[in-house]
Amino acid sequence: GSSRPGRKDDHVRLASEQRGDAPPRTDYDDLEFVHHALAGTNPERVDLSVTVGDWTWPTPFYVNGMTGGTETTARINRDLAIAAAETGMPMACGSMSVALEDPIAAQGFTVIREENPNGFVMANLGAGRGPEDARRAVGLLNADALQIHLNPVQETAMPEGTRDFSEWAHGLERIVEACPVPVVVKEVGFGLSRPTLELLESIGVRLADVSGAGGTDFLRIENARSTGSDFSMLSGFGQSALACLLDAPARSPVLLASGGVRHPYDVVKALACGARAVGVAGTFLQAVIDGGAEGLVEVVNTWQAQTRALFALLGAERADDLTRTDLLTRGRLGEFCRLRGIDVEALSRRSQNR
Ligand code: FNR
Repeated sequence: GSSRPGRKDDHVRLASEQRGDAPPRTDYDDLEFVHHALAGTNPERVDLSVTVGDWTWPTPFYVNGMTGGTETTARINRDLAIAAAETGMPMACGSMSVALEDPIAAQGFTVIREENPNGFVMANLGAGRGPEDARRAVGLLNADALQIHLNPVQETAMPEGTRDFSEWAHGLERIVEACPVPVVVKEVGFGLSRPTLELLESIGVRLADVSGAGGTDFLRIENARSTGSDFSMLSGFGQSALACLLDAPARSPVLLASGGVRHPYDVVKALACGARAVGVAGTFLQAVIDGGAEGLVEVVNTWQAQTRALFALLGAERADDLTRTDLLTRGRLGEFCRLRGIDVEALSRRSQNR
């Protein structure tokens, strides 16, 4: 629709503005490692690369899907892509539905491949689209994977949003069948529950980003954009990434996590809870708004050094080793675990069950 380009700029502006009043305490702060003073290792032995399905990514964090389609957002995508190319970070773009309709808007996405010809790039579409759209989106970027976002909470709060979600699961199944590259199903900041992950697994989805609550808040963003309908009553709706990871079923797609990642310690905590890699949207968006591509490169270099140091402190040579650390779940996250019947005592003694 005609409001779409304006909406993309609104999302970026509001996501950035609202970072100022982010919750002081999130579920990440409710997860602690039991400290073992002699368990550490040498940072030189740490390998930061991660295995995600059939892929190996050089960093355990990646740029999550955000934007594209307007002049401003094309510049942001270009800066993100330059930083991704320089650091080896995988990168996703924002929803490409506008690019399928408008060749000028498409340039705000294809710039990602131009700036990063050899990097790992993910295309992005909403769950309501068909298989042909999925093929075209992947083709435009020569993408390595396709993110399909599930955003029913956002759609509910969005004045121009979809209200009928009844065909999404079936539509998703058709996209997975037809898509020439692997599909990564993701939320946009409200989490993927245990039954949702089970359903995704059963329809052949091999990768899922639980994208939980606590970071960029699309309820607040849509409420700020909206004149009239106000869904702020839903404030706090949804699960955090850590809650989703701890509640995930044994038979699940390969898990990625995102939502509210502020720094490398959050990355390490998500990996310890079973994520194979961690997506970052708002924090990396702010880095390019503040300092362009070079600003983000600096942030990523710092994150790599600090992530390596944290792995060494926790005695992990690979991300996988973090899944044998002892975790204490406190506060709101602890309460979630108790309500959902998660064995929190077993989590606190994982290093003894090797
Ligand atoms: C997003 N996100 C998003 N996700 C998606 O799949 N398609 C999209 O078009 C967008 N658009 C978008 C715009 C902006 C400005 C932001 C900040 C984010 C959601 C994003 O990928 C992620 O799921 C959430 O933002 C939660 O992560 P953070 O921001 O808390 O790290």
